[in-house]
Parts: sequence; C-alpha cells; structure tokens
Amino acid sequence: MKIGIIGSGNIGGTLGQHWAKAGHEVMFSSRNPEDLKPMAKAVGAKTGTVENAAVFGDVILLAIPFGKVLEVAQQIGRLDHKILIDATNPYPQRDGDVAQRVIDDREQTATGYVAEQFPGAQTIKAFNSIYYKVLADQAFQSGDDRVAVQICGDDLQAKQTVKQLIEAIGFAPQDIGDLSSGTLFEPNAPLYNQNLKIGDALTLLHQLR
Ligand SMILES: NC(=O)c1ccc[n+]([C@@H]2O[C@H](COP(=O)([O-])OP(=O)(O)OC[C@H]3O[C@@H](n4cnc5c(N)ncnc54)[C@H](OP(=O)(O)O)[C@@H]3O)[C@@H](O)[C@H]2O)c1
Repeated sequence: MKIGIIGSGNIGGTLGQHWAKAGHEVMFSSRNPEDLKPMAKAVGAKTGTVENAAVFGDVILLAIPFGKVLEVAQQIGRLDHKILIDATNPYPQRDGDVAQRVIDDREQTATGYVAEQFPGAQTIKAFNSIYYKVLADQAFQSGDDRVAVQICGDDLQAKQTVKQLIEAIGFAPQDIGDLSSGTLFEPNAPLYNQNLKIGDALTLLHQLR
C-alpha cells in the first residue's frame, strides 16, 4: 500500500519506518523534507513536500500538531477517495484556541474537526492514544503480547484497511466504534495513553461500558 506521511516526527517518523519495514511504500513529508532523507533512506522510503505525500498516498497519516491542521488542509486541498488516519491530539498550550474550542465543544470531537477539514476523505482516528516510545519499542509483537491501538471511524472498509496497517506492524487494533466514540481516547479520557496489552485494554473498555 502507498502511505503518505504528513508530519514525520515522533509519531509519523516511527510509524513510517515500521510500515516501510513491513513492505509498504512510504513517503515522509514535513515543511523540511530534506531533513527527512537519512531516516527515509535507511528504510527505503521516499521524501517529499506535504503536497507530494498527499498525492502519493492511498492512505495519508496526519501526524502534525493539531493547531496546524487547518493550514495543512488549505495547503493540500481535498483528499477525495483517500483514507486519512488522524493521529493528532488537541493541546491548548501547544495548539492554541482551536484546540480549546474543540475541547469545550460538546457537539464536536477532535477528529470530527479534522474530518471536516478534509471533505471527501474517509477519516479514521488511530494512533492518538499510544506513546511514541511504546510505538517504537513494542512493534512487531504477536498474539497477546501486542499492545492495543485504539481506532474508530464511520467507514467500515476504511477502518478495516487501517486495522490491517496496525496489525502489519505487530500491534492489536482495538475498535472503539464510530468516529464519535473517539472521545474515549482523546487526552484525559480513560483509554488515553494507557499503552495496555490488548487483553487488558479490552477489559478496561468492558468496565467503561
Ligand atoms: N508524541 C506522542 O507520543 C504522540 C502520541 C500520539 C499522538 N500524538 C500527536 O501526534 C501529532 C504529532 O506529534 P509528534 O510527537 O509526532 O510531534 P513532532 O515530533 O513534533 O512531529 C511533528 C511533525 O510535524 C511536522 N510539521 C509541523 N508543522 C507542520 C506543517 N505546518 N506542515 C507540515 N508538517 C508540519 C514537523 O516537521 P517540520 O517542523 O519540519 O515541518 C514534524 O515532522 C500531535 O498532534 C500529537 O499530539 C503524539
């Protein structure tokens, strides 16, 4: 699968390297793609501008600060027929008013806001709730040893594709439900940053429901 990474830091860099190692075609991007070349070269991936990555990927991973989402959406335009994985989290201290607004707005989830900026894409929320060091260190496990990665989304086919991308790098997808259920793994929510093995994560979700 062709995966365009927008924002290639802790989360985007780690995931892109894993996916490249798992045999996927990866393009890393940021505002400074030249800086990404050594990382990309080490795993046989490409680098490009944000626009290049948006065109390249059938699946786009969005792993930038939440406060930059609108700017990037305006920069790249529509992502029609593509799957957008939203890994971002709103932190007012870092991301400013837009993050505070989605936190205060009971009608809109953080990923709901992101999805609105990319009409035409199938937006799936995933990788928001796992610490990047866990993502780096606990990859390529199997069975019950796998750490859970919470995922939600409205389009079942797109969600299935993202589940396969989670499994391809040795994590266990934990399907929380439709996009609105993402509040369960936003910052300060019960499933946020728990980094549990799949069995414990399922038990916790069961207790919460
Ligand atoms: N760190 C974690 O453990 C963790 C876990 C789950 C989710 N998240 C969320 O994932 C997102 C990324 O976090 P991170 O820790 O990976 O951040 P990070 O290490 O600071 O990486 C951010 C990346 O985004 C790029 N970037 C920033 N502004 C951009 C713009 N306007 N256009 C294009 N690229 C831009 C940066 O590169 P340039 O500055 O060179 O453009 C960098 O490659 C955040 O929303 C965060 O809350 C983080």
